[in-house]
Amino acid sequence: MRTILVLNPKGGCGKTTLATNIAGWFAQRGKCVSLADCDPQGSSADWLAIRPDGLAKIEPAELNGNELLINRNTEILIIDSPAAIHDEKLVNITRAAQTVVLPVLPSAIDVRAAERFLRELVSHRKQINRKVKLASVANRVREDTLSAAKLEYYLQTLTLPNGSKIPYMTMLRASQNYVHAAEMGRTIFELAPSKSYYDREQWKPLLRWLSGPGSIPHSSHS
Ligand SMILES: Nc1ncnc2c1ncn2[C@@H]1O[C@H](COP(=O)(O)OP(=O)(O)O)[C@@H](O)[C@H]1O
Ligand SMILES: [Mg+2]
Repeated sequence: MRTILVLNPKGGCGKTTLATNIAGWFAQRGKCVSLADCDPQGSSADWLAIRPDGLAKIEPAELNGNELLINRNTEILIIDSPAAIHDEKLVNITRAAQTVVLPVLPSAIDVRAAERFLRELVSHRKQINRKVKLASVANRVREDTLSAAKLEYYLQTLTLPNGSKIPYMTMLRASQNYVHAAEMGRTIFELAPSKSYYDREQWKPLLRWLSGPGSIPHSSHS
């Protein structure tokens, strides 16, 4: 089973947006997908609950204490994580994942929070003890602004405190398509193609990475 975690302790950076869209994209491709909502706010679970019948099915993965109850046919598990996750909870949730997607918003506060978070992640590396594959995504970006350019530069040069580089996948623009799709239990891939063409194009590098071997630790190809 592939396990993809969308993680960043900063609230509002797009974890639920990325988790639901990634889940829906794989489901549309015929994969058996489960979506685990580990956030007590339950936004992914709410999205799943209003998802119309007839769209590609996504199974809810229930959280029972620290344990996830997952449909046993699951090929791809997407985990949406809560804000303000630290220490033991951060270690536990990261340990469960092969791949971590880190969405970052274009603001100095968000960039500093991401740096702090990465330092914390590296400080736990002994407990995590796996070659988790991590990549960043710039989210909710107003293109052609200085803050967009700054964020891109920052993410392109992002390295962990131990020196390893974090691949930067793509920039997702600020678009009401995300808001409208979420309100309907849909992904942007389930909006009219003419309306969402540009957003789909922006997703391609991330989806290519998630579908390929580069996002899977060497020891856990399956
Ligand atoms: N690229 C985007 N363009 C426009 N709105 C976005 C985008 N990404 C997220 N949002 C909106 O921003 C808000 C916070 O995003 P969300 O995915 O819930 O963040 P998190 O789960 O990290 O708290 C939501 O209302 C969501 O619809
Ligand atoms: Mg959320």
